[in-house]
Amino acid sequence: MSQAAPLSRRSFARFLAGSPLLPLLGFSACTPGESETPNSQTALRELSDLIGSPEDAINVFDFRDVARQTLPPAHYGYLATGVDGDETLRANREGFRQFDLRARRLVDVSSVDTSVEMLGERWETPIVLAPAGSQKAFHPDGEMAAARGSTAQGHHQILSTVTTTSVEDVNAVRHRPAWYQLYPTSSWDVTRALLRRAEGAGCPAVVLTVDLPVDSNRETLKRSVKADTRDCSNCHEAGPTGWLSRKPMFEGLDMQGVPFDTPWMTWDFISRLRDETDMRILVKGVVRGDDALRCVQYGADGIIVSNHGGRAEASGRSSIESLPEVVTAVNGRVPVLVDGGFRRGTDILKALALGADSICIGRPYLWGMAAFGQAGVEKVLEILRAELRLAMQLHGVQSLAELDRSFIVAG
Ligand SMILES: Cc1cc2nc3c(=O)[nH]c(=O)nc-3n(C[C@H](O)[C@H](O)[C@H](O)COP(=O)(O)O)c2cc1C
Repeated sequence: MSQAAPLSRRSFARFLAGSPLLPLLGFSACTPGESETPNSQTALRELSDLIGSPEDAINVFDFRDVARQTLPPAHYGYLATGVDGDETLRANREGFRQFDLRARRLVDVSSVDTSVEMLGERWETPIVLAPAGSQKAFHPDGEMAAARGSTAQGHHQILSTVTTTSVEDVNAVRHRPAWYQLYPTSSWDVTRALLRRAEGAGCPAVVLTVDLPVDSNRETLKRSVKADTRDCSNCHEAGPTGWLSRKPMFEGLDMQGVPFDTPWMTWDFISRLRDETDMRILVKGVVRGDDALRCVQYGADGIIVSNHGGRAEASGRSSIESLPEVVTAVNGRVPVLVDGGFRRGTDILKALALGADSICIGRPYLWGMAAFGQAGVEKVLEILRAELRLAMQLHGVQSLAELDRSFIVAG
């Protein structure tokens, strides 16, 4: 009597992918969020294909799959979530398909220059770390892993207001200080205190985030919190601002009765900020040309085109599609950065050809951090730098400064 051959690891993984057991093991064949994006190549990596070290990674998605397996459900949900059904999160990836690249031939690309200039400073790479809160939810080293893993290779970093590491500690390990992202809260005293700390730590610029006047509807996060059976009260204190009480930037500040939301914030806030600080001011979360123009008129020194990685308004519109109207309106007066869905060197090339000065990444470096700490952050950035260089060489681009609309056709 013949015996059934034992299942190989690969065929077992294939069996598992179609099995009702899968959710019980913490996987889902179609987890809401990033896994549904078309460029992730596969909705589910086979279990045997998860990388065991940063060196095994072929692209940045390899880190996402390890992060999903490593993190507690609620923390992965915080990282992955978009809003509503994650349509805008997916749009951020799909938007890149609206723009195809038009390569130039017979250009000497034996050496390429990936440096860019922003606010009078030269950076070796246009890849900036976007602000992201609570990074110790992803790895015990949190923001320090991001700072150490990015600074040596010349990456700029923007530090969130709601970090789990202070701005002083982060800047102490960076070659050049981070920019400080500001959620102003509803108290000017708190805003002023945050600005003084950022200035004292040497931050040359403050990045005012304007796309979250009120909390957004993060359904993927809500579902993942329900799925998490751990007792989280040790780290997350109750009450409307209880979650802020452990954040180092709020140490010593009385947050009782201070709403975090800023539904009252309008254009004059930029003028008020201008009067309060000598730091450069960038406005993050702009998606329209007319708003970008007003930012410049109100004294902003830079714009970040962003929909908060699909975590703010459920517009269904990608950041990359918002970029051209902002570039046109700003007309070179201030630098324009863009974030949302950047996962490939070719994504970066497209944004720079459309007129961006630099791009920011959020989830990819957090995937790297969750998977392998600082080494993961370093490898994610190394992969993106290598993909960008390759994309430049294959599209006939010697220097990022050469990029213009002639490299783009409608997709
Ligand atoms: C886990 C997480 C936390 C974030 N926290 C902040 C924040 O504190 N302040 C902010 O301005 N943006 C925050 N963002 C948005 C990012 O700065 C950035 O706009 C977005 O992640 C870019 O999209 P990407 O993740 O597709 O690269 C956060 C994003 C993520 C994924």
